[in-house]
Amino acid sequence: MAARKLVVSVWFVLAVAFFSGCDGFGSGAPAGACVTMRPGHMNGNVSVTPQSSPSPYSIVVGDKYTPGRTVSVQIVGPVFRGFLLQARRPGSTTPVGTFSNAPADTKTTTCTTTDNSMTHANTNAKQNITLTWNAPSTGVGNVQFVATVAEQKVTYWMNIQSAQLMQASSAILAKPTYYVIMLCLLQSAYAVMK
Ligand SMILES: *[C@@H]1O[C@H](CO)[C@@H](O)[C@H](O)[C@H]1NC(C)=O
Ligand SMILES: *[C@@H]1O[C@H](CO)[C@@H](O)[C@H](O)[C@H]1NC(C)=O
Repeated sequence: MAARKLVVSVWFVLAVAFFSGCDGFGSGAPAGACVTMRPGHMNGNVSVTPQSSPSPYSIVVGDKYTPGRTVSVQIVGPVFRGFLLQARRPGSTTPVGTFSNAPADTKTTTCTTTDNSMTHANTNAKQNITLTWNAPSTGVGNVQFVATVAEQKVTYWMNIQSAQLMQASSAILAKPTYYVIMLCLLQSAYAVMK
C-alpha cells in the first residue's frame, strides 16, 4: 500500500516537473518567466545569471503602430538559440497585443492571455528573425518591445528594450474612404444650409 502511494507520488512529481518545464530552455520559455523574463536556466545545480555586459542583440522596430494593425519586430545580432519577447507599455510588466505568423523554430506562447508572447520552439540556431505583432484594436498609448535572448543556455541577456513606438491614429482615420465620407457629409451639410 505504502509502496503504491510512493509510486503515485513519484509520477506526480515527475509530471509536474515535466509540464512546468523545470529547466525551461529546450522548448520555449516556461510560464513562470512571463513577468521576470528570467529563463531560470541551470548549469548542473547552479542557477545561471544573466550577462551584465551590453547586449549584442537589439530589437529593431518602426516608430509608430496603428491600433488593430500589425508591426514587424526584428531581433538583430549574432546567432542565438532561445528568446522571450513581449510588447509592454513603458514601465509595465503586462504584455499587450498578440503575436502571429511565427517563423521557423519559434512559436507564440501564452503569458496570462493567449499568444501575447513569442518564444523559441527548439534550440536550433536563429538569427535576425522577424516577428509579427498585432497591436490591440484599441490604442494603449506608447509601447515598447522587451526581450530576453539566450545565445547559449548559459549565456543570456535580459531586459533588451526596443525604442518606444507611438500610437498612430486608429485604422479608420488612416483610410481614405473616411475622408471621402467626411467630405460628402460636409458638402451635404453645406447644401442644406444654402
Ligand atoms: C553543486 O554540485 C557540486 C558538484 O556536483 C557540489 O560540489 C556542490 O556542493 C553543489 N552545490 C550545491 C549548492 O548543492
Ligand atoms: C544579421 O544582421 C546583422 C546586422 O544588420 C548583419 O551584420 C548580419 O549579416 C545579418 N545576418 C544574417 C544571417 O542575416
